[in-house]
Amino acid sequence: MAQIIALANQKGGVGKTTTSINLAAALNKAGKKVLLVDADPQGNATSGIGIDKAAINIDLYDVLLHEADLGDVVLTVDGVDLLPATIQLSESEVQLVAADRREYRLKDALAKVADQYDYILIDNPPSLGLLTINSFTAADAVLIPVQTEFYALEGLGQLINSIELVRQNLNHQLEMAGILLTMYDARTNLAKQVAEEVRSYFDNRVYQTVIPRTVRLSEAPSYGQAIIDFDPKSLGARVYREFAQEVIKQYG
Ligand SMILES: Nc1ncnc2c1ncn2[C@@H]1O[C@H](COP(=O)(O)OP(=O)(O)OP(=O)(O)O)[C@@H](O)[C@H]1O
Ligand SMILES: [Mg+2]
Repeated sequence: MAQIIALANQKGGVGKTTTSINLAAALNKAGKKVLLVDADPQGNATSGIGIDKAAINIDLYDVLLHEADLGDVVLTVDGVDLLPATIQLSESEVQLVAADRREYRLKDALAKVADQYDYILIDNPPSLGLLTINSFTAADAVLIPVQTEFYALEGLGQLINSIELVRQNLNHQLEMAGILLTMYDARTNLAKQVAEEVRSYFDNRVYQTVIPRTVRLSEAPSYGQAIIDFDPKSLGARVYREFAQEVIKQYG
């Protein structure tokens, strides 16, 4: 059975998509069978992994609202399976409101394929709407990327409350996978201070691996590649491979 991990933080631009793509690719290179679910209407994971969104006419929206068969929607890119998103998915936030089992739509869909994968990673939008709630309901664990900058801890309280609410009401087994520090700039004292602050607050729930800020990591998506394919020897590639090992230690 797949370990299902939702990558979430309602704060924008903290490294959710970068981590989703690169963790998926690194887990795959480590021999794991991975499904990456793009649950963000921005579709950044879809394009970042190399899919031309304009060329797709069926996506997660059709799975959530029209019970499309995953086999008709999933694409395989560089060994990673992708359940893509396009702007069409933005309609689902509103349309789900009137749907029955509206919080369980993603869970129901993934249940049919979970035995085919070791890991299912879900990249979420920067909000706590119904798409994110569907992810939390479907997931075993939430992985929270936190950017090591001044406002790092802002909003984490609401996020953790939301995880708790879903645990109580929709998905009793939901846990926090951990906090991943991202975009760490070792040259600044601020980054060190923030990292220390997050660690003193969340203690052993913070991953040992810290993702550095590197230009190569920000360039890779425009080439439609994960960093380990785009520049396998780069620092970013090395660190995401390390992070995959840390996740494998945690979940097998
Ligand atoms: N470690 C890093 N070093 C340098 N740039 C990075 C790094 N991680 C992410 N970025 C860049 O920062 C921007 C935001 O990253 P990303 O898209 O992964 O965040 P996000 O949390 O998914 O954003 P959103 O909330 O909009 O979905 C992107 O331009 C990305 O390329
Ligand atoms: Mg994103």
